[in-house]
Amino acid sequence: MAENDDTREIDMPSEDATPEIDVPGEDTPPAPHKRFRFPWKSLIAVVVIFLLVLPVYSTLQPGYYERYPALRPRIDAWRQSTHALIPCSGCHVNPGPIGFLTFAARSIPAFYSQLVVGPNSTNLLRVPDRKACQKCHVAYRQVSPAGDLLIPHQAHVEVLGINCPVCHKNLVHSKNSQGYNAPEMQTCLTLCHNGVRATNQCDKCHTKKQVPASHHQANWLQIHPTMVGKIDCGQCHAWQPDYCKACHANRPPTHVGNWKQLHQFAVAKEGDKGCLFCHGRAFCKQCH
Ligand code: HEC
Ligand code: HEC
Ligand code: HEC
Ligand code: HEC
Ligand code: HEC
Ligand code: HEC
Ligand code: HEC
Ligand code: HEC
Repeated sequence: MAENDDTREIDMPSEDATPEIDVPGEDTPPAPHKRFRFPWKSLIAVVVIFLLVLPVYSTLQPGYYERYPALRPRIDAWRQSTHALIPCSGCHVNPGPIGFLTFAARSIPAFYSQLVVGPNSTNLLRVPDRKACQKCHVAYRQVSPAGDLLIPHQAHVEVLGINCPVCHKNLVHSKNSQGYNAPEMQTCLTLCHNGVRATNQCDKCHTKKQVPASHHQANWLQIHPTMVGKIDCGQCHAWQPDYCKACHANRPPTHVGNWKQLHQFAVAKEGDKGCLFCHGRAFCKQCH
């Protein structure tokens, strides 16, 4: 019975025909040709298209990446970032048809291999290209939003060809040592601005963070010990870990041998004026 029903349905090309089992062959002369054939080719085409579209569609959804345990920290950070409303594809798929096709071509094997071997690791999403950022950020900045830093974007991005994430590496997926997503000075100073490849003079980049007024006092070197604790020295000096120590270790050539015993002769000969260039009176009083 069930078999009969099935055949009847398949074999009914025309609506007007009454439900007779032997419809083909009787009705029309060119029967063998008109006989209904299951559209295998179309079905296969539909399945193939589905199998191609499914991975591309899936991998464009942020939810897809949650199955990768390794990506969860990145996703959590992205949710809290300024770009939380921008899907992964916003930055990880280049604009235009070529960008899309390149992504699609990589997403298909990535999707199916993941089904087979499990969501262990994916290299589907790569470090974004600047073209992706420039879908939205079209203007080239010259100064930081706070106005305290010169950062000629065009020169860096177009002339030097530096990709945005080189500097904006903490953009969405991590925070920097200060706990925010902005670029770090460390990147500038280690990659290029090391004083050899490019300048490391503070005021070439910082228009306001120059040598502070406190330091311009003539006796700064003598009184700076007294300022420790009153001003946060680390705010400017912490990025050079040995800044203070290096200078303290850098004793003048007179200070050799048993200088503690010998310095009295130097003072007797030349007075203490020269000493006070570096030492404050308080320093001498520690022992005297
Ligand atoms: C606003 C842009 C932006 C968005 C949106 C974004 N990312 Fe990223 N992504 C980046 C940047 C910039 C990097 C490179 C710096 C880094 O590794 O954090 C990156 C790197 C990555 C990497 C490492 C690539 C590599 O080869 O090192 C993965 C994986 C990744 N993102 C996954 C995701 C996922 C998953 C989403 C969506 C939930 C997402 N990203 C959304 C900007 C973005
Ligand atoms: C789909 C659009 C879009 C894309 C793609 C995009 N952004 Fe953004 N970006 C925004 C929006 C919207 C804001 C928020 C603007 C605001 O708050 O004024 C923003 C903010 C920013 C900020 C400042 C806020 C912060 O988080 O510090 C930076 C820097 C930034 N984007 C850099 C990038 C870089 C680098 C890329 C490429 C990896 C990128 N953006 C890709 C839309 C985008
Ligand atoms: C050479 C390093 C460098 C490169 C390359 C770079 N930036 Fe920046 N960008 C910075 C610095 C430094 C700042 C200032 C950050 C601050 O003071 O908060 C900044 C600021 C920004 C801001 C404003 C941030 C805000 O808080 O509103 C945006 C937007 C931005 N960059 C987008 C981009 C985009 C898009 C690209 C690539 C086309 C790019 N940057 C390439 C270093 C760079
Ligand atoms: C090549 C450019 C460049 C040079 C040279 C440079 N800086 Fe920076 N500096 C930056 C960038 C970029 C940041 C991070 C963005 C921001 O905080 O505005 C930064 C951040 C800072 C900060 C605040 C963040 C922190 O680490 O506490 C201080 C303070 C600072 N710099 C001091 C200095 C001093 C002092 C010098 C010179 C000895 C110097 N900078 C040289 C680019 C530079
Ligand atoms: C706002 C940023 C800033 C702060 C805060 C700061 N300094 Fe400095 N300091 C500088 C800069 C910039 C220089 C010059 C660096 C250079 O030439 O490499 C400097 C130089 C010095 C020097 C060398 C002076 C010389 O004549 O060679 C000493 C000593 C010094 N700082 C001590 C301190 C001490 C101690 C504190 C905390 C009480 C402090 N600084 C806080 C920015 C700062
Ligand atoms: C160019 C800077 C400079 C000058 C000038 C200078 N000193 Fe010093 N002196 C130092 C430094 C740096 C130290 C080591 C400080 C530390 O270890 O904290 C030091 C240490 C000392 C000490 C401690 C003993 C020791 O061996 O550590 C004495 C005493 C001393 N100096 C006396 C003098 C006398 C006296 C003069 C003048 C004749 C003088 N100094 C000139 C930089 C100077
Ligand atoms: C240009 C060289 C130089 C730099 C840079 C420098 N110092 Fe000194 N520092 C000295 C000299 C010289 C003395 C001895 C002067 C005195 O005590 O009268 C000294 C003494 C001190 C003392 C008191 C002596 C001691 O060892 O207890 C303190 C505290 C101090 N410095 C802190 C700092 C800090 C913090 C920094 C970095 C932010 C710094 N100094 C950077 C040269 C320097
Ligand atoms: C670390 C301790 C120490 C410090 C700091 C120190 N002295 Fe002395 N100073 C001594 C000692 C110990 C003697 C005695 C040496 C001896 O008799 O062998 C001495 C002796 C002297 C003498 C000869 C005896 C006297 O009391 O008249 C003079 C002058 C002198 N110091 C000047 C200075 C001056 C100037 C400074 C600061 C720049 C200074 N000293 C810092 C330990 C110190």
